[in-house]
Amino acid sequence: MEIDRRVFIASLGGTTAAGLLSDEAKADALEEYMSARLNEAVAAQSAPAAQQFPTAAELEAQIETRPTRRGVGNLFTARTGNVKRLDKLPANPRLVDFFTMRFNNTSNHCLQSATKALRSGMSEEVVLACLLHDVVQEIIKVDHGWWGAQLFEPYISEKASFAIRYHQALRFYADPANGYEYPDLYRRIFGRDYRPEPYIEATYQMVRKHKWYGEARMVTVNDLYAFDANAQVSLDPFVDIIGRHFKQPKEGLGYDNSPVAHMWRTIERPDAPL
Ligand SMILES: [Fe+2]
Ligand SMILES: [Fe+2]
Repeated sequence: MEIDRRVFIASLGGTTAAGLLSDEAKADALEEYMSARLNEAVAAQSAPAAQQFPTAAELEAQIETRPTRRGVGNLFTARTGNVKRLDKLPANPRLVDFFTMRFNNTSNHCLQSATKALRSGMSEEVVLACLLHDVVQEIIKVDHGWWGAQLFEPYISEKASFAIRYHQALRFYADPANGYEYPDLYRRIFGRDYRPEPYIEATYQMVRKHKWYGEARMVTVNDLYAFDANAQVSLDPFVDIIGRHFKQPKEGLGYDNSPVAHMWRTIERPDAPL
């Protein structure tokens, strides 16, 4: 089987994340990657297009086949093998420290989204919302729009946190006029017959009439549903935008007594037993 090295490394979370893996963990990851590609190739040959995606009931039936739940944050479970030791954050940790040392599974995706937003001339608030929109998935995936907005709310504008909170609901609803189609990825991960929960539908109905609908919608438009393994991303183009729009507490994230300080400490110290 042909292995595209860049795609494989991207599947591990990028070069830095791959570099942290032991040789044994890399070998395990490669084996899992190859068998997943093989399964996909076999499925693509034998199934008609609509059948390539599971039903919601089929996904439900998989729950008891896993040691962890699907909503668990990336920091708390390893995709293959065991979790890795994390480097200690500097004193008074800043957002950029979290980006480089804790958001290992989400930063590439978020940087790609923010880069797309920057290149298409979006406002700095939308670029910032794109940059931050999924990083809370390091601690929890369930309702990540709401969790993510809460994590950032004390430090960014209300408009930017609105966009982060509601991108979660909007992504289930196409808006072709603004360049957003329902992604195939969701047919795969939620099931081809999935219908959003009533609270998501109600949220969508509220947000579509809101004055900041455009900001939340632009997070979904710049979201990426097919991973581009060739993209070269860097936090550098966003450092000034963070400086202008993110109120970095001088005590460091986690130590400013804000209502969400404990969430930052949880990201800093996910190995704490209690
Ligand atoms: Fe998201
Ligand atoms: Fe995303």
